[in-house]
Amino acid sequence: MLLSKKGLLMKKNIILLAILLNIANLTTPNQEKLTDEFRDFEHTTSETIKEFYRLNHTCQTLDFVISQKQKYATFDRLKMSIWDAIALLDTIVDESDPDLSLSQSVHAFQTAEKLRKDGHPRWLILTGLIHDLGKVLVFFEEPQWAVVGDTFPVGCAYNNKVIFTSYFAHNPDINNPTLQTQYGIYPPNCGLENIHMSWGHDEYLYTVVKNYLPPQALYIIRYHSFYAAHKENAYDYLMNDYDTSMMQWLQLFSNYDLYSKNSEPINITELMPYYKELVTEYFPEIINW
Ligand SMILES: [Fe+2]
Ligand SMILES: [Fe+2]
Repeated sequence: MLLSKKGLLMKKNIILLAILLNIANLTTPNQEKLTDEFRDFEHTTSETIKEFYRLNHTCQTLDFVISQKQKYATFDRLKMSIWDAIALLDTIVDESDPDLSLSQSVHAFQTAEKLRKDGHPRWLILTGLIHDLGKVLVFFEEPQWAVVGDTFPVGCAYNNKVIFTSYFAHNPDINNPTLQTQYGIYPPNCGLENIHMSWGHDEYLYTVVKNYLPPQALYIIRYHSFYAAHKENAYDYLMNDYDTSMMQWLQLFSNYDLYSKNSEPINITELMPYYKELVTEYFPEIINW
């Protein structure tokens, strides 16, 4: 997608208008799934998802991740509010997600509302609302394989708990023996903060919001797509005590991220006063992306 900043802002305004005009339609269909039917990649028939992971596992090399981190360390692409980013997200379809046919903004509010109903702290409700905003990477001309999908460490051997492990056969790093030992370029138990994860919306949003939120919120944002760790308990040999203590937050959050995806209808207009106040409590009006 080729858009100048001006074009992007015009498009954003159109999207915002469309959202406002369609608020009545933002109640959600209630087609319930059983919990074990979520993330069912094995029985998925979607060639789109398979092709997504073939590209993702082939292209996410250590060099690619390091260059993306440098590229996005400038924060000079857009100045926009959290609400602008939520509006932008509604034009994105996540090709990696077998469960989400709703708009991204409805997913954001559903995740947050489920956390709120269960009495969780305000920072966690806010985390639910914003956790996927890093997907605005699509508007910076990044392909989907560099934005969404499960994440995994690069620079060391691929654990077989990562989905579609066989696709790593095409990743150039597989031919570099240094990168294919259990620990690869990392010391044992060095902690996830010292590991390069495959690049996507988790790491990007973490860098954008890291000055505004408490450590638990940042940890959730940074690793919520690392399913091999928080769902399958893989890669414990790279984690330190801090990671071990934080894993409970990832596991708790994952229940809300996944199982809110087709819950009760929501009326975003009615919810706005609460969420406007919540966002203002933690963020300035404009942040750098
Ligand atoms: Fe996500
Ligand atoms: Fe999500």
